[in-house]
Amino acid sequence: MLPYGRQSIDESDVAAVVAALGSDWLTTGPRVAQFEADIEAVAGAPAVSVSNGTTALHTAYAAAGVRPGDEVVTTPMTFVATASTAAMLGATVIFADVEEDTANLDPAAVEAVVTARTKAITAVDYAGHPAEYDALRKISESVGAVLVGDAAHAIGSTYHGRPVGTLADLTTYSFFPTKNLTTAEGGAVASIRPELLERARTFRTVGLVRDRDRLRYPDEGGWHQEVHEFGVNYRLPDLLCALGSSQLRRLGAFKERRQHLTARYDELLAGVPGLRLPTQREGVDPMRHLYPVRVLDGRRREVFDRMRAAGIGVQVNYLPVYWHPVFEDLGYRRGMCPIAEAFYAEELSLPLFVDLTDADQDRVVAALRAILGG
Ligand SMILES: Cc1ncc(COP(=O)(O)O)c(C=O)c1O
Repeated sequence: MLPYGRQSIDESDVAAVVAALGSDWLTTGPRVAQFEADIEAVAGAPAVSVSNGTTALHTAYAAAGVRPGDEVVTTPMTFVATASTAAMLGATVIFADVEEDTANLDPAAVEAVVTARTKAITAVDYAGHPAEYDALRKISESVGAVLVGDAAHAIGSTYHGRPVGTLADLTTYSFFPTKNLTTAEGGAVASIRPELLERARTFRTVGLVRDRDRLRYPDEGGWHQEVHEFGVNYRLPDLLCALGSSQLRRLGAFKERRQHLTARYDELLAGVPGLRLPTQREGVDPMRHLYPVRVLDGRRREVFDRMRAAGIGVQVNYLPVYWHPVFEDLGYRRGMCPIAEAFYAEELSLPLFVDLTDADQDRVVAALRAILGG
């Protein structure tokens, strides 16, 4: 089965991990700080590495101070973790609908639901296409909310010349194997606000405080460390950070290949009946994680099944988050975000990954044309 996404590992990645394995450090050593500096070079803001994209979101919300009684406004067109991690901190999640073309959070829909209780507004750069951060920033500032960017799909993308990582107060990444780069499991939180980044760093390290000037009992002894707020162990080990730094060195080549494959899909699928291709807005330079087409005329399920039967691992991204039974059981009802639901009904992600060959891509296109004609 041709997958819809997968990692690209070369000899330089293997050598980096093997070198780390033979070193003194397996967990938190010099490669963690190096990887975080390497992320900053791409993201444009200092970063803290964490164990995956879900824990990155949990860490970001904890750093933002999300707690019971708060509201977090986000998109339903995302992986469940964007919303579930806020709910786990006791917040009420408010879903705002998406834009028809990009399936990103619609600032007008956000504007309509923010209140004095809105603690965070979380955009998702769906498929790697940055959300409308300038408009969202205005809204977050108007209500004093923290702007969060879930950039699990979008490391390497830019918005009006600015890298994803500098657009929100807190930006989260995932380095799962299907993403734009991988550390196996892994993630990061970047922030343009030093106090938020410090809170994120402390949260992912069990809440432990070691800086003498922050200690409540600084004269306890050289071994002393304290917890002031509860945290968790979400550290990313040296071994995986070694892979991350190596992958980041290849990010430019990864982006080129993803852009080549995207342009090729655009060209090869133009004019296929019953198919709508993804669009790109002015001023953005996406590093595409997904190539999401829309299958019209109620045929998405049939096309999914027939592509899978042909050995092509297409995927659907995503079930609107509030359709998950956990949200349904909290009282969320279908119909809340009709544009997202209409998008979901038609969406199909075609294979897109760095090592996808042009010949494999031709096979995907031929299979789709065999079903839809054209
Ligand atoms: C938009 C989005 N947010 C968060 C996550 C969670 O990342 P991870 O799988 O690394 O926990 C993912 C990945 O599946 C994602 O696609």
